Amino acid sequence: MIAYALRSETPADPPAIRALITQAFAGAEHSSGTEAAIVDALRARGELILSLLAEQDGRLIGHVAFSPVAIDDGTSGWYGLGPVAVAPDRQGAGVGVALIEAGLARLRQAGAGGCVVLGDPGYYARFGFAHDATLRYEGAPAEYFMALTFDGGRPQGAVSYSVAFEASDTARD
Ligand SMILES: CC(C)(COP(=O)(O)OP(=O)(O)OC[C@H]1O[C@@H](n2cnc3c(N)ncnc32)[C@H](O)[C@@H]1OP(=O)(O)O)[C@@H](O)C(=O)NCCC(=O)NCCS
Repeated sequence: MIAYALRSETPADPPAIRALITQAFAGAEHSSGTEAAIVDALRARGELILSLLAEQDGRLIGHVAFSPVAIDDGTSGWYGLGPVAVAPDRQGAGVGVALIEAGLARLRQAGAGGCVVLGDPGYYARFGFAHDATLRYEGAPAEYFMALTFDGGRPQGAVSYSVAFEASDTARD
């Protein structure tokens, strides 16, 4: 166990967030190499609706982003989880789980309908995420796209993330 605190992003945090995400994804299997740029683009578009940090002794060791998604059937109030990143030397200590649980709790408290995630089912099932055949995401194997409803609603159709997810250039402050 390591001691750390969770808090929301402040205006001073983006450079450290960018560095952390770049470092965390450098050795990741399914990395596009654009994860830091995506978070910058979400912020620039006002779509980084939740940006949570884990901090240990003043050092940023983890980050998770949430942004709105669009669903074909017109359902609103759903969000996408990701990217999530934990500093390589702090991985496997529960920081990722704590960040995601805190983020999901905040979304739920704020009245969100649900959340989707694209990732490893072995990791995300613990939060209640499950593949739902009625919700589709083009371009990824179906079982890797998972949903978690907060209000019992079951939206249907194709899901799209913000165009910020197409970002490939890291913006400078
Ligand atoms: C994925 C990541 C965010 C997890 O954070 P973490 O703090 O290391 O994970 P935690 O310690 O909270 O979770 C530990 C559990 O998750 C499992 N786990 C960690 N990474 C996993 C992965 N990529 N796939 C499946 N399970 C994983 C561990 O085995 C452990 O399982 P257990 O509780 O059953 O023992 C972190 O490893 C990371 O930043 N990786 C590089 C970037 C990345 O791949 N991000 C996810 C894609 S958006």
